[in-house]
Amino acid sequence: MTRWSTIETGTLGHPGATVIFASLTPGVFHTPAALRARVEDAARSASFPGTSRQWLDVLPAQLADDRLLIVSLGHDHEEDRWRSAGGYLVAAMRALDLASVRLPASTELGIGSDLASLLEGAMLHGFQLDQERRQPNPGVCDRRILVSGADTALVERATLRARAINRARAWVEQPANKLTPAIFAAEAEQALAAQGVVVHVLGRPELEQLGAHGLLAVAAGSQHDPRLLVAEWRGDANRPGWDAALVGKGVTFDGGGLNLKARPIIEKMKFDMAGAAAVLAALELAATRQCRANVVAVVPMTENTIDGKAYRPGDVISSLAGLTIEVINTDAEGRIILADAITYAIDHYDPTYLVDVATLTGLITGVLHEEYAAIYANDDTLADGLIRAGSDSHEELWRMPLSAKQDYLVESAIADVVNYGPSGYLGFAPGSPVAAAKFLERFASARRWAHIDIAGTAWASRRTSRSGPGATGFGASLLDRWLTSLEKD
Ligand code: BES
Ligand code: ZN
Ligand code: MN
Repeated sequence: MTRWSTIETGTLGHPGATVIFASLTPGVFHTPAALRARVEDAARSASFPGTSRQWLDVLPAQLADDRLLIVSLGHDHEEDRWRSAGGYLVAAMRALDLASVRLPASTELGIGSDLASLLEGAMLHGFQLDQERRQPNPGVCDRRILVSGADTALVERATLRARAINRARAWVEQPANKLTPAIFAAEAEQALAAQGVVVHVLGRPELEQLGAHGLLAVAAGSQHDPRLLVAEWRGDANRPGWDAALVGKGVTFDGGGLNLKARPIIEKMKFDMAGAAAVLAALELAATRQCRANVVAVVPMTENTIDGKAYRPGDVISSLAGLTIEVINTDAEGRIILADAITYAIDHYDPTYLVDVATLTGLITGVLHEEYAAIYANDDTLADGLIRAGSDSHEELWRMPLSAKQDYLVESAIADVVNYGPSGYLGFAPGSPVAAAKFLERFASARRWAHIDIAGTAWASRRTSRSGPGATGFGASLLDRWLTSLEKD
């Protein structure tokens, strides 16, 4: 069972240190009126600017006083400052070893619904995969933020959001021996069904009967059977049809197949199901807020490993769509399983929009690094909508060119399509993100479709406003935000 812990909230308890204050522009504080004088005094005497140093610990001056923790909101232009401040709050509690703090009511602080972002930030930054160590990790567990009963609705919202996103992050960080396709599918089914999502899981016999030969070829070398998880959220049951299909790459471990990966990248490849995790979390978010759109998630899950049954470089395989695929490189497995999932979504749901999310190419990480995910699309309205949702949710996308000029990248001499761009190109053949997109475009055929390559953003090496180093959950918030734009009045 994939488990994680994070900071908790509650209304009862003894706050070890009491109050939290976020300071805004220098000299401006969000504080209950009764504490303003003390806060201003303390900040002045410590020359606390409120814009750069992250927190100030103010010890009680008199017996009756609370210990105060002033948390900085950073500069006015700092991106996503409330979530970020939630992270600093958690860092302060760890550094000062505070088991609990009390957060005054949002009305007392004058921060309205920003309180939800602050708490969400605290719960995202407080995330810790529960590794079942024999000795618990010191300093990370059992911390609590005491909130006002008046803020219950905001706390609830933050908790549901953080839970879905942290679930995705826990799956991404979970080692591949603990998260096989079968386990992943079972856990996802349980999480989504609990929110009223209808889930079907197809196993090997169903996939064979269906003819999902792409997914089956990638899975052939693994001792773990693949799955295709299909999750339906009908938020507007009065309207016929499906507004969107979300497809997520769910490779629980990508060893590369016979084109074996090497260190130091192979050990990171437990993360290769981050697209699947993002799509599943987005659906959970949509369901928990009763999103009024009809959305289906189609998630292929498999390992890419080797034994005597593994598919080979040079093989020609078939796909669910019927198109034949020349496999030049068994490490370009993501596009093959996504192709079958895209076909399944089109055949069974005929969605208005198709969006796939995948840790697809190493090369994109050298271009966009960790701050932007790449988006390739055959439809401007769809691309614009996703890009806007990305900037609104602080998960940014950068659009890359996709045109008929690049068709040759997936042309094969012996099959309908090839899974690898032209080799020997300029004497150098890296895994082209464009070739991957062109491959998927063939299977999306004439649908309004977008492909989001999150190979660089799924895992953070540095702290961001939304998480510490590790799995980010990138894509869940942005897709959830985009789904709101599909709701009809
Ligand atoms: N899962 C990888 C993409 C990846 C690689 C993400 C490194 C992060 C870091 C994907 O399946 C893959 O192996 N892609 C190849 C494609 C190539 C063989 C065409 C790549 O990017 O090298
Ligand atoms: Zn992969
Ligand atoms: Mn690969």
